[in-house]
Amino acid sequence: MKIIVCDPISPKGIALLQQRPEFNVVVLPKPLPEAELLLLVGDATALVVRSETKVTRKVIEAAKELRVVGRAGVGVDNVDIEAATQHGTVVMNTPGGNTVTTAELSFAMLLALARKVPQAHATMVAGKWDRKQFQGVELQGKTLGVLGMGRIGTEVAKRALAFGMRVIAYDPYLTEERASAIGAEFAPEVDHVYREADFITVHMPVTKETREMLNTAAFAKMKPGVRIVNCARGEINRRRWRGRRWMCLRWNRCPRIIRIANSRTSYSRRTWARARRRRRKNAAWRWRRSLPGICSRARCATR
Ligand SMILES: NC(=O)c1ccc[n+]([C@@H]2O[C@H](COP(=O)([O-])OP(=O)(O)OC[C@H]3O[C@@H](n4cnc5c(N)ncnc54)[C@H](O)[C@@H]3O)[C@@H](O)[C@H]2O)c1
Repeated sequence: MKIIVCDPISPKGIALLQQRPEFNVVVLPKPLPEAELLLLVGDATALVVRSETKVTRKVIEAAKELRVVGRAGVGVDNVDIEAATQHGTVVMNTPGGNTVTTAELSFAMLLALARKVPQAHATMVAGKWDRKQFQGVELQGKTLGVLGMGRIGTEVAKRALAFGMRVIAYDPYLTEERASAIGAEFAPEVDHVYREADFITVHMPVTKETREMLNTAAFAKMKPGVRIVNCARGEINRRRWRGRRWMCLRWNRCPRIIRIANSRTSYSRRTWARARRRRRKNAAWRWRRSLPGICSRARCATR
């Protein structure tokens, strides 16, 4: 029975599979694009993936023996569920495994946004100490809007309540009773969260409804200066612009939004770019100064 481990997973997990003599475990050194994967899956019974490998219809149809796709993680948006169902392949995920980790990551983003931690760090790296420029805001007393009150959303809400925040939750499958049991306010519609929230955190899967749900129209309904954390999926607030994919941070071109943090992107690109330019300039200066008789420093005697 051939099992292909397509994405990096823990060696302990691989060892468990390798213990079974009837399993022929093939561990790919790196995630492969569809065209290369197609050549390998012909006799595979199982695929183990995280989020990088895309198990598309073509891959499923090429894998004649495929019985199961194991997704080490929560979202199964990288697997064509419809094609798998038609093929008789079971798609299994591991919900709950990284709930607390992701909730803590989201909270780290929330605090970093509130206190401008990455920007301050970038200027320190650039040799500056601009304390006043990085005065942040407190979380206490602010309103956190949670979009998607599942496992991770609930954990984030608990942490927010401990920080003295008011929590409003929107989830089409959430009941008022469940929301109040958690200590959150129930939002009957998403616009209610947009209107009220100082911070918004996103914890839902990518579906037809949620893909690019945070768009210009949604931003227009939000409070000016709202801070948004997306540790779910980039597709929820990513879009194409002039034929190119724009990472969510570019959305702070919208004047009403000041920061968006995403677990996959740095959320202070402008600051990093400025620091990078400064470093390059400093390097150029050092190089010029190293040349005999030339110095670009204004008051330098060797000029
Ligand atoms: N960045 C990471 O490392 C990481 C790790 C784990 C999960 N995730 C992402 O986080 C998401 C949430 O994970 P989870 O374990 O809490 O899943 P979950 O299934 O427990 O919760 C998802 C919630 O989203 C709600 N939802 C569905 N459609 C919605 C909509 N249109 N508007 C608002 N809510 C909607 C569902 O009702 C559900 O309660 C996953 O789908 C995955 O994409 C990211």
